[in-house]
Amino acid sequence: MSRVLRFITAGESHGPGLTVVVDGLPAGVPVERAAIDADLRRRQGGYGRGGRMKIETDAVEILSGVRHGRTLGSPVALVVRNRDHESWADVMSPDPQPDAARERRRLRHPRPGHADLAGALKYGTSDLRNVVERASARETTARVAAGALARALLREAGVEVRSHVVRIGEAGLGEGPTAWATLDRAEESPVRCVDPAVSDAMVAAIDRARKDGDSVGGAVEVIARGVPAGLGSFAQWDRRLDGRIAQALMSIPAVKAVAIGEGFAGGETRGSAFHDEIVWDAGAGLSRPTNRAGGLEGGVTNGEEVRALAVVKPIPTLLIALRSVDLATKEPQKASVERSDTCVVPAAGVVAEAMLALVLGDALLERTGGDSLEEVLAHLETTRARQRRLAGPR
Ligand SMILES: Cc1cc2nc3c(=O)[nH]c(=O)nc-3n(C[C@H](O)[C@H](O)[C@H](O)COP(=O)(O)O)c2cc1C
Repeated sequence: MSRVLRFITAGESHGPGLTVVVDGLPAGVPVERAAIDADLRRRQGGYGRGGRMKIETDAVEILSGVRHGRTLGSPVALVVRNRDHESWADVMSPDPQPDAARERRRLRHPRPGHADLAGALKYGTSDLRNVVERASARETTARVAAGALARALLREAGVEVRSHVVRIGEAGLGEGPTAWATLDRAEESPVRCVDPAVSDAMVAAIDRARKDGDSVGGAVEVIARGVPAGLGSFAQWDRRLDGRIAQALMSIPAVKAVAIGEGFAGGETRGSAFHDEIVWDAGAGLSRPTNRAGGLEGGVTNGEEVRALAVVKPIPTLLIALRSVDLATKEPQKASVERSDTCVVPAAGVVAEAMLALVLGDALLERTGGDSLEEVLAHLETTRARQRRLAGPR
């Protein structure tokens, strides 16, 4: 659905690495490898992750499209190597291998909640390894790397994207919006939650689930500040930015529900208590005392913070494995257990930031055009000046 800023990922969980090609960035966007790596590290963190995160510290290699710290306007190719590939080299080899290598990591018992069975039926394979390697959320590493490039573009335009964890299992933040100024605290919490007491309760919820061999889900909020008004369009269904954001967030593995702003409350609230009033102040211009709409009305950004909530299901690999069936013998079996996390909600928030940055970056470039960052920013300033004439300083 992207229009200008497109990306495509490739790579298997235990293959040589994850690759992403990002196309459509203007020339001149500053790119720092360390900033990409910092986001990759944030994706790998969070209380509740399993063994793999300890083995691997992801680091990006930039293969094209960047010279002396700035994009060239050509496609940017990024690679993140899988550090444990070495011990999987024969299992994942692109070349024919002896039976032993094929059998060593064969998976036969599809895990409920994973792509295992659906993928086996789709591709007609009884070796679930062929499915899980690509269906694995390891792919989100490539999205986070791409998202860091979108974030670099947005930063130049005065847009920042952040996230925080709202709920893990039974532990959750109370009602009311979380202020932007408090989001720093999320980075200090092991579960990326802004409230230390709730953070402790979330850690305890994860510990309980882990002790039981179970998993636990939750919810993250992703927020963008400084987003210019007028991105997206109500002119066609597929240009509405709320729909584009929803698809991007829903595409994150384990995300099962998305709301824009306080969308989940919309079904149980009267209109007078839901919509954000518009007020005028000669000094401050037009403003909105509340932002329940999450910065989007009619599929178009209205200049308020863009806010979206993503609900993350409990991950499907469980030590107390659910019932399944051996695909070869059809005998009842416990579902396979791959090395697994207990809770990925904090990490999902980092992926959600990347996805929102990519959608907003695309919408920005769609709005401004421009081959160079300079042209993008010049057009944006013209737009902002025109909007100030209509709506005041804001
Ligand atoms: C960052 C991240 C890490 C994940 N890690 C695991 C994991 O270790 N074990 C697991 O069973 N699921 C994990 N998942 C979730 C599965 O990938 C996901 O549930 C599965 O691919 C099926 O897709 P669906 O839940 O969107 O239907 C993770 C998800 C994310 C976003």
